[in-house]
Amino acid sequence: MTLGEGGTPLVRAENLPAKIGRPDIELYFKLEGLNPTGSFKDRGMTLAMSKAKEEGAEAVICASTGNTSASAAAFATKAGLPCYVILPSGKVAAGKLAQAIFYGAKVVQIDGNFDQALDLVRALAAEGNITIVNSINPYRLEGQKTAALEVIEKLGNAPDYLFIPVGNAGNISAYWRGFKLGKSIGTAKKTPRMFGFEAEGSAAIVRGVVIENPETIATAIRIGNPASWKEAEAARDESQGKIGCVTDEEILSAYKLVARTEGIFCEPSSAASLAGLIKYSREIEKGAKVVAVLTGNGLKDPNTPIEVCKDELDLKPVEPSVKTLKAVMGLCK
Ligand code: F0G
Repeated sequence: MTLGEGGTPLVRAENLPAKIGRPDIELYFKLEGLNPTGSFKDRGMTLAMSKAKEEGAEAVICASTGNTSASAAAFATKAGLPCYVILPSGKVAAGKLAQAIFYGAKVVQIDGNFDQALDLVRALAAEGNITIVNSINPYRLEGQKTAALEVIEKLGNAPDYLFIPVGNAGNISAYWRGFKLGKSIGTAKKTPRMFGFEAEGSAAIVRGVVIENPETIATAIRIGNPASWKEAEAARDESQGKIGCVTDEEILSAYKLVARTEGIFCEPSSAASLAGLIKYSREIEKGAKVVAVLTGNGLKDPNTPIEVCKDELDLKPVEPSVKTLKAVMGLCK
């Protein structure tokens, strides 16, 4: 089954490297927000849903910070399966909630966070013929690893570095599987150093402890007990990479910078990859090829940009005349 997922653009950053004081690196963005439901989740969801159908599941279920639920809802509809979605109330971007409801999933919001929602999903699935389509479903990461193979295909080799946001830690694990596969089948001669970034208020892997009350403006990665914790640490260690954390301020500043230097609108959580790159840019050698994954589309979250730019936005309408417009636009001599 397909909704046209994958094959997303890898776009060279022409302006941003100089802006961050590194005109000597070759930087590319992998635009995963151009998948059919607007995030990388579709790559794994197509496979997980096909397999659920094949194995005779009666329904599918997921916990989500938003994107998994949007993707699951779309692919479940395509598969003709009922879809249940458990969300942390008040912490899901408006566009994602709209998608899950509109694709026809049964959406339930809990008075709790993502980690609690995932625990509940595991308990519910254990009781019946209902398949979990979170990234603990083994087919999800197998589908997601295709993104790494696409990067190799476009560059003709693996990059030197991959920067990526880390929430439940599935995607960094999937990319690492993909890069190892690329090297083993000979399409790449090397593997990249994997640099993953959690949000500071939910940096469980960085701190080495479960965070009971994770907090961050980057709600997609507001996760305190990542399911793929061990595999992500292995990716970091085997690749001589790093898992670090970035503050909400650093995330929002990267989020705005990529829009205003490259014309790319990603969601706040996606910008954790760029925020990490900026933070560790001095560690990158001259001439290195660097890929930063932008995991989700900016349109998912229409509220944060307006909040971030509220000083630039005057919502009061003006009189519709050329004279007034010239005055407001600063075009008067
Ligand atoms: N970026 C976005 C836009 C996400 O939605 C997520 C995760 C991540 C990054 C982190 O990826 O979890 O594989 O480390 N979103 C999940 C969800 C948790 O429910 O949509 P990860």
